[in-house]
Amino acid sequence: MDATFLKELSALLPADAVLTDPEDIVDYGTDWTKTPGMPGAVALPRTTAQVSQILALCSRLNVPVVPSGGRTGLAGGVVAKPSELALNLSRLHSIHDVSLLSRMVRVGAGAITENVHHACEAQGLTWPIDLASKGSCQIGGNLSTNAGGLRVIRYGPARKWVSSLEVVTMSGQVLELNADLEKNNTGYDLLQLLVGSEGTLAVITQATLKLVKIPQEVGKAVCFFAVDSLEGLPFLFESCRKGPFEILAFEFFSQACLNAVTAKLGRKSRLEKPGRYYVLAEIAGEQSRDGWLEQVLAHPQVVDATLAESSEDRKATWGLREGITESIALTGRVRKHDVCVPVAQAAQFLEEVEKAASKFQKGMALYFFGHFGDGSPHINLVTPPGVSADVFDATCDAFEPEMFAILQKYRGSISSEHGIGLLKKKWLGYSRSKTEIALFRSIKRALDPRGLLNPGKIFDL
Ligand code: MLT
Ligand code: ZN
Repeated sequence: MDATFLKELSALLPADAVLTDPEDIVDYGTDWTKTPGMPGAVALPRTTAQVSQILALCSRLNVPVVPSGGRTGLAGGVVAKPSELALNLSRLHSIHDVSLLSRMVRVGAGAITENVHHACEAQGLTWPIDLASKGSCQIGGNLSTNAGGLRVIRYGPARKWVSSLEVVTMSGQVLELNADLEKNNTGYDLLQLLVGSEGTLAVITQATLKLVKIPQEVGKAVCFFAVDSLEGLPFLFESCRKGPFEILAFEFFSQACLNAVTAKLGRKSRLEKPGRYYVLAEIAGEQSRDGWLEQVLAHPQVVDATLAESSEDRKATWGLREGITESIALTGRVRKHDVCVPVAQAAQFLEEVEKAASKFQKGMALYFFGHFGDGSPHINLVTPPGVSADVFDATCDAFEPEMFAILQKYRGSISSEHGIGLLKKKWLGYSRSKTEIALFRSIKRALDPRGLLNPGKIFDL
C-alpha cells in the first residue's frame, strides 16, 4: 500500500486506529464464507468526522475502500485486496436512548444487532430483524445488505425498519437522509437506494431504527412437523395461514440438515418419527387451537408433530434450525445459495432443483433449509464424504447453471437476503435485465465516479 497514503492516514487517526501488520489485518478482508482476502491496511474510525476525512483522503489519492462491520456476510461483500483499505465501522457502536414517543432508537453503524435488541428490551420494544448471526453482525451491515432473517414473514426485511440514515459519500460529504420523518414525498428516496447497496454507493455511519412492541408471550408456541415430501410444505403453510393465530416464523429444513445438527452439535429432535423435511412454525395468539393440530396431523403427508409451548422447549426447537449453518460448515466445503421464488411455487421449484441435482450426487450433497414462508429457500451444496475439493468445485460449477436456469423459469431472485457481493456477481444476469444493470452502473457513477467504493462488488463497472 502506498507509503504517502499510509502516512497521511496515520496523521488523521490515533495510532491504534490504523492497522498494517498482516496478522492484525487478515480477518478484516473476509467474511463468514472465508473467501480469501487481504486488505493493504485497516482503518478503525470512531466518529463520522473521521470516516469523512478518510474517504476524502482516499478520493484524493485514488485509494479504493472496502467498508465492513461484523463481517458475518455470506456473499464475499467485504473481501478486500492488498491495494484496498478496509474501513471497519465497529468502533461507531453508540446506542442512544430509546424514544418511546416515536418508537425509534439512534445507533452507530457498528452497534451489534443483539446489543440493540438488549437496549430496547428494557422498554418493551425491539428492532424486529432476527438473524442467526445477531451476536456478531452490526446494524450498518444489516442495512447495507437489507438483511432478512427468521421473521421476515411477520415484519419484512431490514429496509422497513429504518427511519433515517447518516451516510458519508466517497468524496467525504456527510448526508442525513430523511431525518426521522414518517412521511417524506420530496423526490427520490435516497435512503432506500442506499439500503441493500452493499457499501458500493456510500458508507453508512449512523441509523435511526424503527421499533415494535415485543410480541406477547401469551399463546406463543413453536410447532415442529415432519413431512414425507416437498408437497407437505405448502400444505402446512396454508394450514397455518388458515389457523386461529398469527404466524411469526415459518421455516423448513431437510433430513440432511437435521442429521448435521444432530451429529455436529449434539442437538436432538423431539419428534418420534422421521420425515424427509421438517417445518418449524412459530405462532402466537390467545384463541384456542383445539382441533387444529389434530386436523393437520390427519393429513397423509404429515408424519409427526410436536408443540413446544414453554420458553425452554421453544428454544430447544429453534436450536435445530439455528444450528444448521454452523453444522453444515463443520460437515465440509459449502456453496451457499439464498434464492427466492413466489411462495406458491416454492415446493415445485425445489422439486425441480432436487431432480436436476440427482445426476450430480456423486460430487455434491444437497442441503435445503430456510424461510419457506417467504418463498426463500437456502440451497447449500456440500462436499460428500471422501470427495476432493476439486471434484466438489467442478461438480458445483456444472450444476449451478442448471439450478439458475430453473430459477429463471420461476422469475426468481438469485439472492433473497445475503446480497450479491463478490460471490454471486456472475449470476446477476439471471435476475436482472441488461437495462437494469446498465442503470445500476449509471447510479454507481453518479455517487462514486471513479469506482473507489467497494470495487468489484455486485457488478463490474
Ligand atoms: C439462515 O437463514 O440461517 C441464514 O441466512 C444463514 C445461512 O444461509 O446459512
Ligand atoms: Zn436465511
